[in-house]
Amino acid sequence: MKNKRLPIAELHDFDLDSGLDKPLYLQLADAIRTRILSGRFPAHCHLPPTRTMAGMLALGRNTVNNAYEVLRSEGLLEARQGSGFYVSANLDPILVPSGKRATSTEPTPMKASPKVLDIDQRPTPREIKPFTPGIPDLDAFPLDLWARLSAKQWRQASRAMLTYASPTGYQPLREAIAAYLKACRGVVCDPDQVLVVSGSQQGLDLTCRLLLAPYDAVWVENPCYQGFLGTLRQCQAHVIPVELDGEGLDVRAGQRIHGNPKLVFVTPAHQYPTGTEMTMPRRLELLNFAQKSGSWILEDDYDSEFRYDGPPLAAIQGLAPESRVIYTGTFSKVLFPALRIGYLVVPKRLVGALSELRYLVDNSSPTINQAVLADFIDQGHFASHLRRMRQRYRARRDQVCEWLRHNQAHHFETGPHSGGMHVTLFAKVPFDDTAFAETAVHCNLEIRPLSPYYRGKRKSSGLVLGFAGFDETRIKQALGRLDQCLNHYFATPQASYMVR
Ligand SMILES: Cc1ncc(COP(=O)(O)O)c(C=O)c1O
Repeated sequence: MKNKRLPIAELHDFDLDSGLDKPLYLQLADAIRTRILSGRFPAHCHLPPTRTMAGMLALGRNTVNNAYEVLRSEGLLEARQGSGFYVSANLDPILVPSGKRATSTEPTPMKASPKVLDIDQRPTPREIKPFTPGIPDLDAFPLDLWARLSAKQWRQASRAMLTYASPTGYQPLREAIAAYLKACRGVVCDPDQVLVVSGSQQGLDLTCRLLLAPYDAVWVENPCYQGFLGTLRQCQAHVIPVELDGEGLDVRAGQRIHGNPKLVFVTPAHQYPTGTEMTMPRRLELLNFAQKSGSWILEDDYDSEFRYDGPPLAAIQGLAPESRVIYTGTFSKVLFPALRIGYLVVPKRLVGALSELRYLVDNSSPTINQAVLADFIDQGHFASHLRRMRQRYRARRDQVCEWLRHNQAHHFETGPHSGGMHVTLFAKVPFDDTAFAETAVHCNLEIRPLSPYYRGKRKSSGLVLGFAGFDETRIKQALGRLDQCLNHYFATPQASYMVR
């Protein structure tokens, strides 16, 4: 193999910083190592003499020499008598691709197994754009306060707080959650029935793993929260989409399709995504049905804290506490999603099995975060944050509804919107929501089309607009852009949009 000199251009983009704690010779060694391992500096390649390299990079000659020596001691460079340093010839060709192969052997992403969710493959956007649903107002979160509470917990952390924790959760947090749910959601439980989980998504997952065998029938609302459909797919469950009417999941319609489901999944306080609230008669009908058929009810109460026009109905769980209801909720919407803390409230007879399962999955949630959250609730910060957010979100909800009334009422009507963090617009005219959402991305809008939430042929078309995470100015600007996009859509012959 011929010895090669490195092109000068390769030697100019070292990012060295004398202000860092790390000595310059180690920074330089790191930079060269990265290039060798990525194949940019291939085997046999001749590195510039120390004097030349030092001149090019405005470094001392010793610095360059020390860096080369570090790499020589690692076996990445060889020193050849009288001619300087070369990239070693004996590097493992699997670890070190040649410069050319480095690009041509880019690993292709592994395909997800068919068990994994195929419904919404889009990764969560890094930059949250209007109208991403389910994102709270992150700028309004009292971070300084949270940091102070965290610092206090870390300073006083006992050995017990640093070791493996209980899979059921940190006891003071379980107590705080039980008290909160009793006062605000009508949930009837002992703290021992509360299991702290890594977001309600984990609560849904644990529940399904515990209760379902492959091909077990599960009723889901149609349309349905896609995260839950993904969980069901993992469990190889037999998904039975059940129509909704104005009162929530239509129990009789469900019975006509499959009268004996193992599990029924509902979002009764604020159906996701339509916004329907399940009426009290319907809740009782569902409970009766579950009792008779031996089905479990999984009640996902993901955003009921945000209610703007009167109090929400109490949770189904509270109507029959020791029955067949598993209740889940989350702090993702009321605080922030990255906290990854949610909860399950389960009948006592399930506590042992669920905590064993949690132990096997990931042991427990981080104790210190749970302790900080317990302080945040106990000291009243949670309640006041909630009050502030409720006020803000109400104003934002009003803003969206007002805009609709004045601008697009001939094309859309709003779904129920007395609570929650999004408004769903139902199209009154033919509308390819998926194609529209794809074009709206170019207007810096992240809009969820409604139809993909449905299973089967009968779908409504529309838009799910999350309003909570954006202040009034951003919402106003975004609504302006949305209006323009919609006017353009409705003025364009439909053929130019992809119709699915
Ligand atoms: C209806 C519904 N349930 C559950 C979740 C899961 O929330 P998390 O896992 O963040 O607690 C979400 C998240 O958006 C949701 O919309």
